Amino acid sequence: MGKIKINGKEFEFKDGETIYEVAKRNGIFIPTYCYHKNLRIVASCRICIVELKSPKSQILTSCATLCKDGMEILTDSEKVLEERKNIMQFLLLNHPPECPVCDQGGKCLLQDYTYIYGNTFSEFKYEKEYKKYDIGPFLRFYPELCILCERCYRFWKEELNEDEIVCFGRGYKKYVGPAQNKEILMGFSNYLIDICPVGAFLDNTLSKFSVREWDLEEIETCCHFCSLFCEIKAYRRKKSRTKAILGGKKSLPYKIYDVKYKNDDGIICDRGKFGKDFILSEKILKKAKIKNKWVEINEEEIISFLKEKIKKYAPESIGILLSARMGNEEIDLLKEFFVNEIGIKNFLLIPGFFDSSFNLMKSDFKIEDVEEKTFILNVGYDFFYSHPVIGFEILRRLRKLKGEILPAHFYEYPFKEKLPFLFSISYQEGKVKREANKFLLTNFKNSFNILKILFSKIYKEYGVKKEIEDDFLNSWEFLRKIENLNKQKEFEEIINRIKKSKKLIVIYQDFIPFEIQKLLYSFKYINFPVKILILRYSPNTEYFLQKKFPLLNIYDFKNKIERGIIKLVIFIYTNPFFDIPYEGFSNLIFDKCETIIFDTFEGKHTEISEFVIPLKSFYEKDDFVMDNLGRIKKIKKVIESNRIDLKEIILKLKGGNFEEIYFEEKIEIDLDKDFEEIYIYPSLYKFGYEVKFSESLKKVF
Ligand code: SF4
Ligand code: SF4
Ligand code: FES
Repeated sequence: MGKIKINGKEFEFKDGETIYEVAKRNGIFIPTYCYHKNLRIVASCRICIVELKSPKSQILTSCATLCKDGMEILTDSEKVLEERKNIMQFLLLNHPPECPVCDQGGKCLLQDYTYIYGNTFSEFKYEKEYKKYDIGPFLRFYPELCILCERCYRFWKEELNEDEIVCFGRGYKKYVGPAQNKEILMGFSNYLIDICPVGAFLDNTLSKFSVREWDLEEIETCCHFCSLFCEIKAYRRKKSRTKAILGGKKSLPYKIYDVKYKNDDGIICDRGKFGKDFILSEKILKKAKIKNKWVEINEEEIISFLKEKIKKYAPESIGILLSARMGNEEIDLLKEFFVNEIGIKNFLLIPGFFDSSFNLMKSDFKIEDVEEKTFILNVGYDFFYSHPVIGFEILRRLRKLKGEILPAHFYEYPFKEKLPFLFSISYQEGKVKREANKFLLTNFKNSFNILKILFSKIYKEYGVKKEIEDDFLNSWEFLRKIENLNKQKEFEEIINRIKKSKKLIVIYQDFIPFEIQKLLYSFKYINFPVKILILRYSPNTEYFLQKKFPLLNIYDFKNKIERGIIKLVIFIYTNPFFDIPYEGFSNLIFDKCETIIFDTFEGKHTEISEFVIPLKSFYEKDDFVMDNLGRIKKIKKVIESNRIDLKEIILKLKGGNFEEIYFEEKIEIDLDKDFEEIYIYPSLYKFGYEVKFSESLKKVF
């Protein structure tokens, strides 16, 4: 603690704070390039220099100088401004004057600071050095624009623990770029665009060369490509700019130009960033299909058709197959209309395992749970790829707790008592493998057996929580059968490690076999502090399960179709050929039942069905969602389309008046171009094991 003066005003500082941090906290502007609050300080760019007046006159880099009691600092003295001018000249040494044709123009720190601090001429007369690199399908890399702040390199090394971005050469010959012969790791490559203060890394998707920063307006909404629902800002063209650019036409382009985390602290993954262009896919539905004919979208016609169709069937004969790729209000209305009003009881939620017993299985994990002496048990697929941002946060936190920047490809770390520990039983090689302390690549069956042994050992050590103790052991018949399997040393090692931990965190995806899910969830009932993180396949599953729909699992649903009980299947936001790759299941539905499809994208299901109703995508509607950690978030319409709003349709079927509920200004659309979707395909498997649950355990599932 102490006090410093900045530009004549006195400010308090905490131990370990730099001059830059104190200035920033108190609203005093100091320019920076290489500084980034999540990265190591390298003080390479020098633009943040300030003048130290007292105790002795000196020029210092503010990002790298710790405060000392009694310091007097000037941030914009004549000496500082003169020095910054020189620094700008050096930074622009190899930089071509390309602002008019650079996508970063208008949001570039080099441009801004050149304008504020720079010269209008350069004293360096020699040829500028240009080098060129291509980098992946989504990024363009212009090394000649680089000012060598090393943010990209440090992010890659320190935050991702990878080594594809490197610093080459020294001194004047130094440059930064992707290592040759190495494919850049997809996952967070988009962050290079945002972390680079200039335009060296730029977006290579449809947005390139199409818009300027000042033409855009931002809408706060959520990404919807996974159940984390990261809060983002999505950028669309301002109406005023559109008018000028499109020669007075009133229509706005149907396009999202950029997507970023909602503030500077956060990060989004490549799926969130580059997936924004899915709305331009040729596969997006633009027409409705009624009685096997593709027709223009006409809401009245659709409603009268639906009324007529649904009336024909008894509620027991109707099955609804849906994903939770929808908002809370949509889910509420579906429940109210289809369950409460019509009385339908046959709901199948993808990926297909859920039945009513799953309603209580929910996560209680928070990122702060990853602390010293925690043991993380991860089962399933690589969570860094399935749910990137939470994967990134977990691995980042683990690394920070371990207090080191770990070398890449380092598979096993020595047991250190206090450190958190990550044990991953995975069906997939990947990033988690490289970061785990222990990693086991195996299949479903083996993982199930291993978990049973692990469970039984922990159970024996700690017992179960009092309220479910009575018949718990009897329900786990396998415990007795595996008495003889106790020899494995690895288990002893793992068990010892768990015993030395103060908390167990269990992480898995909800699209692994349900026997394994139930077994993993059972860890929660052992008399030991356990936190659970269930990563969802279908984004709004957390909210959907809370609404307690009458759910059937895939096997019961199939059975009802085979027995001729279900005769009409309504699909909502799902393509079963895509979401449920269970051989014969989708064909069975289309062979035996009438179908109605509500979806945004065409596919085999829309080809076969006689009735298709195109629905709005997440970027085209207002609603709320619940993220994987149980937090409610708002989604907001970014672009408008003439596709059908599910809420509107249901309210009209119910006879309600939707226009009074919400209103958003209409924008015309202008569809063009194509885009490759980025999705992860789920797997659906069932194998011959059955975990028998006791009556008291059944209550908790
Ligand atoms: S590419 Fe960008 S982030 Fe990387 S060193 Fe150059 S200027 Fe810095
Ligand atoms: S982690 Fe999920 S919600 Fe977040 S940006 Fe990526 S896909 Fe979107
Ligand atoms: S920001 Fe301080 S030296 Fe670069």
